[in-house]
Amino acid sequence: MSSGDRRWKAASSAVRLPQGWRGVRVERAVIGAALFELCAASAAIAQPRPLPSIFDPFSPPATEIYTLSLLVLGICAGIFVVVSGLIIYCIVAFRRRSGDDDREPPQIYGSNPIELAWTMIPFLIVFVLFLVTTRSMLAVQNAAPPPGALNVTVIGHQWWWEYRYPDLGIVTANELHVPVSSPGNRRPTFLRLESVDVAHSFWVPQLNGKTDLIPNRVNTTWIEPLEPGLYVGQCAEYCGTQHAHMLLRVIAQPTAEFDAWVAAQRAPAVDDPSVAAGRALFQSVACLNCHRVGGTVADGVFGPDLTHLMSRATIGAGAAPNTPADLRAWITDPDQVKPGALMPAMKLAPQQIAQVVAYLGTLK
Ligand code: CUA
Repeated sequence: MSSGDRRWKAASSAVRLPQGWRGVRVERAVIGAALFELCAASAAIAQPRPLPSIFDPFSPPATEIYTLSLLVLGICAGIFVVVSGLIIYCIVAFRRRSGDDDREPPQIYGSNPIELAWTMIPFLIVFVLFLVTTRSMLAVQNAAPPPGALNVTVIGHQWWWEYRYPDLGIVTANELHVPVSSPGNRRPTFLRLESVDVAHSFWVPQLNGKTDLIPNRVNTTWIEPLEPGLYVGQCAEYCGTQHAHMLLRVIAQPTAEFDAWVAAQRAPAVDDPSVAAGRALFQSVACLNCHRVGGTVADGVFGPDLTHLMSRATIGAGAAPNTPADLRAWITDPDQVKPGALMPAMKLAPQQIAQVVAYLGTLK
């Protein structure tokens, strides 16, 4: 466990302190925990990324939004400077001076040129903003998938992400692997967004803007990372108790690395005889009703696919790092790690939990 992970643990247990006057400190601990998690997570990848920010785009749709935001901010800054400049000028130039009498200043009503100016100028500004925003929206929405595009179906669950690669026969959770794009070899990923329960929102600021996942509706969007690395994001639509623990991790990999990941994910689960006891236990209790382990009788679909659980760095959609100790804590009582999580505590004996953790540890 890295020092970042330990601080993460320390900070996340601080979150469970009694509420009250310590609220502000608890909140700071949560923000600190998030920062540490992000830094620790980025450090593990060759190309560390700073905090997720729309001002640091790495994908064409994000760049489109970034450019638009600079224009909008520039126009707004201009309006701010003009308006506050005029206010300050009026306060200084027309202030009450000693020797002024108490007479009312001249009262002027109606000036066609001034009224026309303050109607037309805002109208033109809003019209320009409308045009550039529409242009950006259409540029992102109407982009046609090039031949090398990858298709992924993203399914929002309370509170985790399911990723299905229909053309590759892969199902995974919480960590989205995509190929890196280059000008000579464009490999964008087109996302089909669905939800099985409530509204969620897919948002990885450095790759694209927010797009909602709505029950009984299909939305689409796309990302195209131009550099390898880990891009983090967050569900951006309040979806219940654990909305804040519905973190997004997009791992952009060079083609060879991505192809190796695909090959590993398509393989059936490792069948290690040394953990037969754990596997038998996993298959004899309710685990298999919700989780799938490829190549075994476990084929539940309510929870994340565990066939290659060990290829993921976190559990519980980023609620904890994927270490044996955290897995043990999670299986013992998911509610302690992620209050409100829909996975029940199976009430297993410590010895049984150790066997299940050992089994899960072989699912590379
Ligand atoms: Cu899912 Cu908020």
